[in-house]
Amino acid sequence: MIALAPSLLSADFARIGEEITAVEDARADYLHVDVMDGQFVPAITWGPKIVRDLHRMARIPLDCHLMIEEPERSARVFCEAGASLVTFHLEATTHAQGLLADLHATGARAGVAICPQTPVAMLEDVIDDCDIVLVMSVNPGRSGQRFIPRAMEKLRQARELIDRRNPACLLEVDGGVGESNLRDVVNAGANVVVMGSAVFDGGDPGGALRRLRALL
Ligand code: DX5
Ligand code: ZN
Repeated sequence: MIALAPSLLSADFARIGEEITAVEDARADYLHVDVMDGQFVPAITWGPKIVRDLHRMARIPLDCHLMIEEPERSARVFCEAGASLVTFHLEATTHAQGLLADLHATGARAGVAICPQTPVAMLEDVIDDCDIVLVMSVNPGRSGQRFIPRAMEKLRQARELIDRRNPACLLEVDGGVGESNLRDVVNAGANVVVMGSAVFDGGDPGGALRRLRALL
């Protein structure tokens, strides 16, 4: 089963409730919430308060992608705010294994994200502790960028690693996915697909998500 996770980064923040309802009605599986701290990436987005509020109103689970420095300082707060899935960047901490254990203690499912520069081999020593691995297919920081072709091979490598070591682990792809390559990323092994601009940019997120789902 392939899960689709619309990225709220591309939604109209002033109409966030309606945007969420539209994708929920179109059977989105997760709401992907991009947390940026102005340090790990230049942009600043949301903190734990909005995650708590979204958790109260949402009918589907929240998938929190933390693009923050020193996630060991605040990742736990996002789990406590109601995120069901939490990923932090392997590049942002030297304590990934310990942090995963910490996050699991909150009851959340947790895992690591890797930037385009980070080889899949870097996951070898944390994969046993991950419920999810997120392979970035653009440089983190904003939506609407082009898919980096090399990510397709990284998805295949990550799929092989997961199948061999931790088959229950989810494999998420994030960045530049839409109509033209949705099937390709799924064929390469992704089973959670984040899409921002492909869902929200046309002004009819529900319709767009249904059309994307029909391609699978
Ligand atoms: C980028 C974010 C993505 C982004 C995806 O840093 O992590 O989740 O919103 O947007 P699209 O699908 O437009 O690349
Ligand atoms: Zn993201």
